[in-house]
Amino acid sequence: MTEDMETWEKEDGVKFLKEVGLRPGQIVLDFGCKVGHYTIPAAFIVGSKGIVYAVDKEQQALNELQQKARVDNLKNLKIIKTSGQTMLDFESESIDVVLFYDVLHYFEKHNRKKLYQEVQRVMKQDGFLSVYPKHTLEDDPIQEFRRFSLSDVKQEIEGSNFVFERKFCGLISHDDGLNQGCVLNFRKNENHNCI
Ligand SMILES: C[S@@+](CC[C@H](N)C(=O)[O-])C[C@H]1O[C@@H](n2cnc3c(N)ncnc32)[C@H](O)[C@@H]1O
Repeated sequence: MTEDMETWEKEDGVKFLKEVGLRPGQIVLDFGCKVGHYTIPAAFIVGSKGIVYAVDKEQQALNELQQKARVDNLKNLKIIKTSGQTMLDFESESIDVVLFYDVLHYFEKHNRKKLYQEVQRVMKQDGFLSVYPKHTLEDDPIQEFRRFSLSDVKQEIEGSNFVFERKFCGLISHDDGLNQGCVLNFRKNENHNCI
């Protein structure tokens, strides 16, 4: 790992995720975590009373994450290899924060919808969903977001009963380097069932 990314995981990423709203004791789900450029700082923040569930379908990336967690003596990290399913294997209302960072563009629309529904189920009432919608029209468009703007992503998530809360921009991790990017936070729409 480069020096930049080590500094990101141990210092700048910690500062950024604190700004995003991560706190000691929280239960965090980092879906599509890869080698953990956001998982590791999240684990430093939530501390020994919290847990970070790191989910990915790529075993090799998870092995690398496991190795880093060992070196950093992070015991609050639970690494989960999946077969790529949209079902989130967690109890209802058990998670404080869900991270979808640079991952949604892998999913077709109907599968993104399933993911949002699963987040509605597993997230605590006062929890939040944080999304880094990379690879939209404004930012190196590829895969399922190649014709999708940042505002389309925001609208899509709002359409799944979330309320947009805040946007955080800065020099943030992407792949194995740093770039300017923005993260969007959403809460559950509490008025969903009101008439
Ligand atoms: C571009 S990386 C982003 C990694 C990390 N979130 C970050 O921002 O540094 C996307 C990751 O999502 C994972 N991924 C893609 N589709 C997935 C699925 N259906 N289930 C679980 N992980 C998936 C990939 O294996 C890859 O590791």
